[in-house]
Amino acid sequence: MDLLTFLAASHSRFHAADLLAKELAAAGYTRLSESRTWDLAPGGKYFVTRNGSALLAFRVPRRDFAGFMLSASHSDCPAFYVKENAELSGPEGYARLNTERYGGMLLAPWLDRPLTVAGRAMVRAGAAIETRLVYIDRDLLLIPNVAIHMNRAVNDGCKYDPKCDTVPLMGMGSAPGTFRALVARAAGCRAEDLLSADLYLRPRQAPVVWGAADEFISAPALDDLQCAYGCFRGFLAAPDSASVPVYALLDNEEIGSRTKQGADGAFLSDTVERICAATGRDRREAAANSFLVSADNAHAVHPNHPEFADPTHRPVMNGGVVIKHSVRYATAAPAQAVFTEVCRRAGVPVQHFFNRSDMTGGGTLGPISITHLSVETVDIGLAQLAMHSCYETAGARDTDYLIQAMTAYYSSSLREENGVFTLD
Ligand code: CO
Repeated sequence: MDLLTFLAASHSRFHAADLLAKELAAAGYTRLSESRTWDLAPGGKYFVTRNGSALLAFRVPRRDFAGFMLSASHSDCPAFYVKENAELSGPEGYARLNTERYGGMLLAPWLDRPLTVAGRAMVRAGAAIETRLVYIDRDLLLIPNVAIHMNRAVNDGCKYDPKCDTVPLMGMGSAPGTFRALVARAAGCRAEDLLSADLYLRPRQAPVVWGAADEFISAPALDDLQCAYGCFRGFLAAPDSASVPVYALLDNEEIGSRTKQGADGAFLSDTVERICAATGRDRREAAANSFLVSADNAHAVHPNHPEFADPTHRPVMNGGVVIKHSVRYATAAPAQAVFTEVCRRAGVPVQHFFNRSDMTGGGTLGPISITHLSVETVDIGLAQLAMHSCYETAGARDTDYLIQAMTAYYSSSLREENGVFTLD
């Protein structure tokens, strides 16, 4: 599965996790269930999901292992969440959908483009309640702008009111229950068996590679599916090492990670603990010989606003992997040195991001993960533009740099003793 295919089919975080699960199963990985005992065989390959939106995959070495070589990226992206009683009827016979914001969104890009909804639904199936993926595969919604003739000052700066300006239009004179019927049909159930749903607006515009030399890629949710994809390919490609390679896709980074499937939940630490218990390895010793690459996209210098970048740290698209530094990131000198050495051995260029000194920037998974699993951690990403737009832009060649770096990373093994790091 190439990146464009993955992005095009990742209609929601649930679809993204499902696509990776299917690829792992096809590659011979055994699906584990968190509600059962794990019997892990040396040389075994496994994956486990939580909430349908987070996924962990790992391979058990044939011999005693040093520690864990982990990566973590996030499956979620800022989007409009569709409320329970979704239909707004009127004015003048219009039918609209009631939504709220999930994550820190750029609002303007959502206007005047075809949209639909995607996510998951819970469906009554006999005595059970089943999870179903939902994607209404058609141009269903649009958020119309106000004409310039009615808002002459709009190009001097615009304030968007999410209860009014970004409400999506669905139809005219639609019968009550139309939206619910569409969701039930997409979930493959009767409307009365549709118990609940987590649905998000989704732009219909397909991912594209573009530019004079095809140097750019644009798609919804490049933050963070580009990193999720690059780390995944590296994880699959790497030969066995003296450590346990662990791939993590976690949810809810955009709202602070404080869910059971987020970096502030125990999914990663529970799994590491279970691998240690099943293999008889001391968890604390293994943690000391472990490393986490927290991979979440970074800001490229903006072509029209280069002044927002720091004067001496100016990441560019297609310039290689970006190591991210700030008080809100986990990166410190030891992890930076280790990861830079991995990239040097892989022939991958490294750039550095710092916030301009008067800006605070965003947070990410790394510093949150280490409060549960305290391992040496570096925050990295790939340089991109328009972060948290519903259609983002990044470097088309950077994905391969990340795959190369992560293949080398997952092929290696780390040992640490009193500040001395050995990378094999
Ligand atoms: Co992100």
